[in-house]
Amino acid sequence: MKFLITAGPTREAIDPVRFISNRSSGKMGYALAQAALDAGHDVVLISGPVAITAPRGAHVVNVISADDMYDAVHANLAGVDIAVLCAAVADFKPARYVERKIKKRDGIPSIELISTRDILASLGALSEKKFLLAGFAAETNDLEKNARIKLTKKQCDAIIGNNVSAPGLGFESDENELTIFLPDQTSRVLPRAPKAELAKSLVKILCALQQIS
Ligand code: CTP
Repeated sequence: MKFLITAGPTREAIDPVRFISNRSSGKMGYALAQAALDAGHDVVLISGPVAITAPRGAHVVNVISADDMYDAVHANLAGVDIAVLCAAVADFKPARYVERKIKKRDGIPSIELISTRDILASLGALSEKKFLLAGFAAETNDLEKNARIKLTKKQCDAIIGNNVSAPGLGFESDENELTIFLPDQTSRVLPRAPKAELAKSLVKILCALQQIS
Protein backbone atom coordinates (compact mmCIF):
# COMPACT_ATOMS: atom_id res chain seq x y z
CA MET A 1 0.00 0.00 0.00
CA LYS A 2 1.02 3.62 -0.37
CA PHE A 3 1.00 5.83 2.71
CA LEU A 4 1.06 9.61 2.72
CA ILE A 5 2.11 10.87 6.15
CA THR A 6 2.48 14.45 7.37
CA ALA A 7 4.70 15.10 10.36
CA GLY A 8 6.25 17.77 12.53
CA PRO A 9 5.29 21.38 13.11
CA THR A 10 4.93 24.15 10.55
CA ARG A 11 6.51 27.59 10.85
CA GLU A 12 4.66 30.75 9.99
CA ALA A 13 7.08 33.58 9.29
CA ILE A 14 6.63 36.99 10.93
CA ASP A 15 9.80 38.54 9.51
CA PRO A 16 13.12 37.09 8.21
CA VAL A 17 14.18 36.00 11.72
CA ARG A 18 10.96 35.25 13.59
CA PHE A 19 8.16 32.74 13.26
CA ILE A 20 5.16 31.19 15.03
CA SER A 21 5.37 27.45 15.59
CA ASN A 22 4.60 24.75 18.16
CA ARG A 23 6.21 21.96 20.18
CA SER A 24 5.74 19.09 17.73
CA SER A 25 8.96 17.04 17.38
CA GLY A 26 7.78 14.93 14.43
CA LYS A 27 8.51 11.72 16.36
CA MET A 28 5.03 10.19 15.99
CA GLY A 29 4.83 10.84 12.24
CA TYR A 30 8.38 9.61 11.64
CA ALA A 31 7.70 6.48 13.73
CA LEU A 32 4.61 5.82 11.60
CA ALA A 33 6.62 6.27 8.41
CA GLN A 34 9.25 3.82 9.71
CA ALA A 35 6.62 1.28 10.75
CA ALA A 36 4.90 1.48 7.36
CA LEU A 37 8.22 1.00 5.56
CA ASP A 38 9.12 -1.93 7.85
CA ALA A 39 5.80 -3.55 6.93
CA GLY A 40 6.74 -3.27 3.23
CA HIS A 41 4.60 -0.26 2.28
CA ASP A 42 5.57 2.80 0.19
CA VAL A 43 5.74 6.07 2.09
CA VAL A 44 5.58 9.71 1.10
CA LEU A 45 6.56 11.70 4.19
CA ILE A 46 5.68 15.39 4.09
CA SER A 47 7.57 16.96 6.93
CA GLY A 48 7.78 20.30 8.63
CA PRO A 49 11.12 21.36 10.17
CA VAL A 50 12.28 18.71 12.68
CA ALA A 51 15.59 17.68 14.27
CA ILE A 52 15.27 13.94 13.57
CA THR A 53 16.46 11.90 10.59
CA ALA A 54 13.97 10.67 8.04
CA PRO A 55 13.57 6.91 7.70
CA ARG A 56 15.52 5.39 4.81
CA GLY A 57 13.32 4.49 1.91
CA ALA A 58 10.68 7.16 2.46
CA HIS A 59 10.08 9.74 -0.24
CA VAL A 60 10.55 12.86 1.86
CA VAL A 61 9.12 16.25 0.94
CA ASN A 62 10.41 18.97 3.28
CA VAL A 63 8.19 21.97 3.85
CA ILE A 64 8.19 24.97 6.18
CA SER A 65 4.79 26.62 6.35
CA ALA A 66 1.20 25.41 6.50
CA ASP A 67 0.68 26.72 2.97
CA ASP A 68 3.71 24.73 1.71
CA MET A 69 2.39 21.61 3.46
CA TYR A 70 -1.08 22.05 1.97
CA ASP A 71 0.39 22.32 -1.54
CA ALA A 72 2.79 19.38 -1.03
CA VAL A 73 0.00 17.11 0.26
CA HIS A 74 -2.30 17.91 -2.66
CA ALA A 75 0.56 17.45 -5.15
CA ASN A 76 1.36 13.96 -3.79
CA LEU A 77 -2.04 12.27 -3.65
CA ALA A 78 -1.65 10.10 -6.76
CA GLY A 79 -1.91 6.41 -5.90
CA VAL A 80 -2.25 7.02 -2.14
CA ASP A 81 -4.15 4.29 -0.24
CA ILE A 82 -3.84 5.65 3.30
CA ALA A 83 -3.28 9.29 4.33
CA VAL A 84 -2.34 9.92 7.95
CA LEU A 85 -2.10 13.57 8.90
CA CYS A 86 0.08 13.65 11.95
CA ALA A 87 1.56 17.12 11.54
CA ALA A 88 0.86 19.84 14.07
CA VAL A 89 -0.04 22.39 11.44
CA ALA A 90 -0.09 25.97 12.76
CA ASP A 91 -3.70 27.14 12.95
CA PHE A 92 -2.78 30.81 12.57
CA LYS A 93 -0.28 32.76 10.52
CA PRO A 94 0.63 36.44 10.42
CA ALA A 95 -1.64 38.37 8.08
CA ARG A 96 1.41 40.13 6.65
CA TYR A 97 5.04 39.07 6.32
CA VAL A 98 7.43 41.93 7.16
CA GLU A 99 10.30 41.86 4.63
CA ARG A 100 12.88 43.44 6.93
CA LYS A 101 13.63 42.46 10.53
CA ILE A 102 11.25 44.24 12.90
CA LYS A 103 13.40 46.51 15.09
CA LYS A 104 12.93 46.79 18.84
CA ARG A 105 13.41 50.54 18.69
CA ASP A 106 10.18 50.79 16.71
CA GLY A 107 8.21 49.53 19.74
CA ILE A 108 6.30 46.34 20.46
CA PRO A 109 4.61 45.22 17.23
CA SER A 110 1.06 43.99 17.15
CA ILE A 111 0.82 41.05 14.83
CA GLU A 112 -2.50 40.39 13.18
CA LEU A 113 -3.14 36.69 12.70
CA ILE A 114 -5.28 34.92 10.12
CA SER A 115 -6.25 31.25 9.81
CA THR A 116 -4.23 28.76 7.82
CA ARG A 117 -6.03 26.33 5.54
CA ASP A 118 -7.02 23.03 7.15
CA ILE A 119 -5.27 20.29 5.19
CA LEU A 120 -7.15 17.39 6.79
CA ALA A 121 -10.54 19.00 6.17
CA SER A 122 -9.57 19.75 2.58
CA LEU A 123 -8.88 16.03 1.99
CA GLY A 124 -12.09 15.01 3.76
CA ALA A 125 -14.02 17.32 1.45
CA LEU A 126 -12.61 15.81 -1.76
CA SER A 127 -15.51 14.37 -3.73
CA GLU A 128 -13.57 11.48 -5.24
CA LYS A 129 -11.46 10.33 -2.33
CA LYS A 130 -9.94 6.91 -2.98
CA PHE A 131 -7.87 6.65 0.19
CA LEU A 132 -8.48 6.03 3.87
CA LEU A 133 -8.14 9.34 5.72
CA ALA A 134 -6.91 9.48 9.31
CA GLY A 135 -6.13 12.54 11.38
CA PHE A 136 -4.77 13.15 14.84
CA ALA A 137 -6.36 15.11 17.66
CA ALA A 138 -3.94 16.54 20.17
CA GLU A 139 -6.03 17.49 23.19
CA THR A 140 -5.43 18.64 26.74
CA ASN A 141 -9.03 17.96 27.82
CA ASP A 142 -12.28 16.28 26.71
CA LEU A 143 -10.38 13.95 24.37
CA GLU A 144 -13.33 11.86 23.16
CA LYS A 145 -15.68 14.82 22.67
CA ASN A 146 -13.11 16.90 20.78
CA ALA A 147 -11.84 13.96 18.72
CA ARG A 148 -15.38 13.05 17.64
CA ILE A 149 -16.11 16.66 16.63
CA LYS A 150 -12.97 16.59 14.43
CA LEU A 151 -13.95 13.20 12.97
CA THR A 152 -17.30 14.57 11.80
CA LYS A 153 -16.24 18.10 10.85
CA LYS A 154 -13.20 17.02 8.85
CA GLN A 155 -14.97 14.00 7.29
CA CYS A 156 -12.27 11.51 8.26
CA ASP A 157 -12.35 7.72 8.43
CA ALA A 158 -10.50 7.74 11.76
CA ILE A 159 -9.25 10.21 14.33
CA ILE A 160 -6.34 9.19 16.51
CA GLY A 161 -6.61 11.04 19.78
CA ASN A 162 -3.76 11.74 22.14
CA ASN A 163 -3.73 13.53 25.44
CA VAL A 164 -0.90 16.04 25.24
CA SER A 165 -1.26 17.24 28.82
CA ALA A 166 -0.17 14.00 30.54
CA PRO A 167 3.44 14.15 31.76
CA GLY A 168 5.84 12.11 29.60
CA LEU A 169 3.32 11.63 26.79
CA GLY A 170 2.69 13.32 23.47
CA PHE A 171 4.75 16.27 22.26
CA GLU A 172 8.55 15.79 22.29
CA SER A 173 8.35 12.56 24.29
CA ASP A 174 9.18 9.03 23.12
CA GLU A 175 5.96 7.55 24.48
CA ASN A 176 2.33 8.10 23.77
CA GLU A 177 -1.10 6.71 24.52
CA LEU A 178 -3.60 6.74 21.68
CA THR A 179 -7.30 6.17 21.17
CA ILE A 180 -8.63 5.56 17.68
CA PHE A 181 -12.12 6.95 17.16
CA LEU A 182 -14.19 5.59 14.27
CA PRO A 183 -17.36 6.91 12.62
CA ASP A 184 -19.40 3.88 13.78
CA GLN A 185 -19.04 5.28 17.35
CA THR A 186 -16.53 2.61 18.37
CA SER A 187 -13.06 3.37 19.65
CA ARG A 188 -9.93 1.43 20.37
CA VAL A 189 -7.31 2.27 22.99
CA LEU A 190 -3.62 1.69 22.36
CA PRO A 191 -2.20 1.91 25.89
CA ARG A 192 0.94 3.83 26.81
CA ALA A 193 3.92 2.52 24.85
CA PRO A 194 6.96 3.76 22.91
CA LYS A 195 5.90 5.66 19.78
CA ALA A 196 7.64 3.02 17.59
CA GLU A 197 5.46 0.26 19.05
CA LEU A 198 2.26 2.29 18.76
CA ALA A 199 3.17 3.11 15.17
CA LYS A 200 3.45 -0.58 14.34
CA SER A 201 -0.01 -1.29 15.76
CA LEU A 202 -1.46 1.77 14.02
CA VAL A 203 -0.13 0.71 10.63
CA LYS A 204 -1.79 -2.70 11.05
CA ILE A 205 -5.11 -1.16 12.15
CA LEU A 206 -5.13 1.42 9.34
CA CYS A 207 -4.38 -1.25 6.72
CA ALA A 208 -7.26 -3.37 8.06
CA LEU A 209 -9.60 -0.35 7.95
CA GLN A 210 -8.49 0.44 4.41
CA GLN A 211 -9.32 -3.11 3.31
CA ILE A 212 -12.89 -2.90 4.59
CA SER A 213 -13.52 0.68 3.44
N1 CTP B 1 -4.70 19.81 10.63
C1 CTP B 1 -4.48 20.11 9.29
N2 CTP B 1 -4.38 21.42 8.89
C2 CTP B 1 -4.52 22.41 9.78
C3 CTP B 1 -4.75 22.14 11.16
C4 CTP B 1 -4.84 20.81 11.55
O1 CTP B 1 -4.35 19.17 8.48
N3 CTP B 1 -4.41 23.68 9.35
C5 CTP B 1 -4.83 18.40 11.02
C6 CTP B 1 -3.73 17.86 11.91
O2 CTP B 1 -2.67 17.32 11.14
C7 CTP B 1 -4.45 16.76 12.67
C8 CTP B 1 -5.88 17.30 12.78
O3 CTP B 1 -6.01 18.28 11.77
O4 CTP B 1 -4.51 15.57 11.94
C9 CTP B 1 -6.27 17.91 14.09
O5 CTP B 1 -5.33 18.87 14.49
P1 CTP B 1 -5.50 19.62 15.87
O6 CTP B 1 -4.41 20.63 16.01
O7 CTP B 1 -5.71 18.62 16.98
O8 CTP B 1 -6.91 20.32 15.68
P2 CTP B 1 -7.36 21.67 15.06
O9 CTP B 1 -8.31 21.38 13.95
O10 CTP B 1 -6.18 22.51 14.73
O11 CTP B 1 -8.24 22.31 16.22
P3 CTP B 1 -7.78 22.80 17.68
O12 CTP B 1 -6.34 23.24 17.57
O13 CTP B 1 -8.72 23.92 17.96
O14 CTP B 1 -7.98 21.64 18.59
